[in-house]
Amino acid sequence: MNFKVFMHFISRGAEAILYKKNDFLIKKRISKGYRIKELDNKLRKERTIREIKLLVESKRNGVCVPTVIEKDLKNFKIVMEFVDGDVLRDVLDKLTKKRLNMICKNIGESITKMHNAGIIHGDLTTSNMVLKNDHVYFIDFGLGKVSDKIEEKAVDLHLLKCALISKHNKIWDIIFKKIIESYSAKGKEKILKRLEEIEKRGRYAER
Ligand SMILES: Nc1ncnc2c1ncn2[C@@H]1O[C@H](COP(=O)(O)OP(=O)(O)O)[C@@H](O)[C@H]1O
Ligand SMILES: [Mg+2]
Repeated sequence: MNFKVFMHFISRGAEAILYKKNDFLIKKRISKGYRIKELDNKLRKERTIREIKLLVESKRNGVCVPTVIEKDLKNFKIVMEFVDGDVLRDVLDKLTKKRLNMICKNIGESITKMHNAGIIHGDLTTSNMVLKNDHVYFIDFGLGKVSDKIEEKAVDLHLLKCALISKHNKIWDIIFKKIIESYSAKGKEKILKRLEEIEKRGRYAER
């Protein structure tokens, strides 16, 4: 039998190189030359483990994330389901109002599930969301953590807001408002109050 393997380069970021192999996505954390080898290996291993753990935990709590298929800690690799859709960053500004509303609702509900499960994504940008068949898949949990702290949840929302302002400047306010409308994590009021405080701190620091 002659099995053909299709490899296709997807992206190379600061941390990892990603490629598609048949129907799977492989994320391999790359070595950083400036770090000493032992530390470099330790960090790559820890972040790979953390990303797998948060993907699995998210899925268990009903968040739409790619399924983890295989881990290869020796090579700092995660093999996961390839989500054949569009990175939300590229399409968000072009959606109809109806779809935009639906997607914002979907995002708010997903962040609710994460936060209620004590999952902090850590990098909630639209580059880390893939839209497929009207479902938003969350990816890139490498900066995430497990925490039930109000502060961590507020920071998660703050980063989302900053990302929307910087990448979707014309519609960020409508989008953020819609997301927050459907965000209903326990402690919502406290989290939003803390978000305001974080923003005040930021403005103070800018002066
Ligand atoms: N499971 C996946 N299915 C499809 N595309 C993916 C998947 N995971 C990552 N990607 C693509 O690769 C890009 C980078 O992946 P990401 O995990 O965000 O790594 P980085 O740490 O480099 O930002 C994403 O923006 C997306 O385009
Ligand atoms: Mg990313």
